[in-house]
Amino acid sequence: MARRAHIPGWQALPGVEVAAVCAPDLAAAQSSADAFGIPHVFSDYHALLELELDAVSICAPNSVHVPASLTAIESGKHVLCEKPMAVTAGQVKMLGEKAEAAGLLLMAQHQLRFAAEARAAYALVKTEKLGSVYHAQVRALRRATVPTSVGFIDKALAGGGPALDIGVHSLDIALWLMDFPRPVRVTGTAKTNFAHGDKITGDWGEWARSRFSVEDFAAGFVHFENGSTLALECSWLGHYPERDDLSCRLFGLGGSLHWPTGEFSTTAGKAHSTGTLPLEATDEPAHFAAIRAFYEAIQSGRPSPIPWKETYWTIAIIEALYESAAEGKEVFLRDV
Ligand SMILES: NC(=O)c1ccc[n+]([C@@H]2O[C@H](COP(=O)([O-])OP(=O)(O)OC[C@H]3O[C@@H](n4cnc5c(N)ncnc54)[C@H](O)[C@@H]3O)[C@@H](O)[C@H]2O)c1
Repeated sequence: MARRAHIPGWQALPGVEVAAVCAPDLAAAQSSADAFGIPHVFSDYHALLELELDAVSICAPNSVHVPASLTAIESGKHVLCEKPMAVTAGQVKMLGEKAEAAGLLLMAQHQLRFAAEARAAYALVKTEKLGSVYHAQVRALRRATVPTSVGFIDKALAGGGPALDIGVHSLDIALWLMDFPRPVRVTGTAKTNFAHGDKITGDWGEWARSRFSVEDFAAGFVHFENGSTLALECSWLGHYPERDDLSCRLFGLGGSLHWPTGEFSTTAGKAHSTGTLPLEATDEPAHFAAIRAFYEAIQSGRPSPIPWKETYWTIAIIEALYESAAEGKEVFLRDV
């Protein structure tokens, strides 16, 4: 993500210098520095954070997100952290409160919010044509794509499987479009159905099966304080017709809306109609747009484009889904 999205995303902003890069393997960090013309190279982020920098992007395995974000905040840097910001809602709260107290911005990289499809869906929601949303169907299903890097499949490094890896993206979009109703209770299941066998071959190549210690399928059901509900399904492996399906469908009293296709369906009397939302034309990749929004918020003194309290609820739902799966019971969420 550093090489594909964050470094070029920051470098696309006029007036921004990417001053330093860090990876435990110094040669790997040096190769990124050479490729992108970055002057300072480190193998330890503590040393990098001694530099006078305005902001950092954290693109390391999930287990590094909280300690690196915390150290960055404590050394006075704004933090753009790859998703998931943390594995527990308590960790998100701790980081959010520290950042707020220090007057720093903290944002999870949910770049899909900044893509044209999400913007169009958000604009429709604001017109109230959808009406009050009573249910959301949220999917993050991949048929045969297990990440090959152990950072995603070893529980000690990743914290969780597809729910935490890609479920967070669709869930973030659905909750944002629903205006973040307060979740109150969650049931869930998390299973490893295929990852230790050879029934489904990974499109991205072979993964270290002996290190695979997360789920390859998770599903959950959420009840919100306002009476609405949400069903979430996440997977890296399964017998699905589509190669992948990162989506949500919101059911409202005025119509239903599908992201990212923008399909809006409504029925008045006996007449049913379906249309597709128009999209703004843009050449800017979503990752770049998210980084630009974060940068502009820093420059103008505005709050984080994705407030940590929103990320708190996204992570709280996934944490509760895992807890429910492990303990076989419904989990009630505590307030932030
Ligand atoms: N927003 C998105 O769409 C998206 C997509 C893919 C991955 N991600 C997230 O980005 C993060 C990284 O994923 P990736 O695909 O780049 O993984 P990757 O395994 O390709 O790269 C991880 C990098 O982190 C570095 N690293 C490991 N420990 C470190 C430490 N202590 N300090 C500094 N660097 C360290 C490694 O050297 C490696 O270069 C993950 O949290 C993942 O969930 C987000």
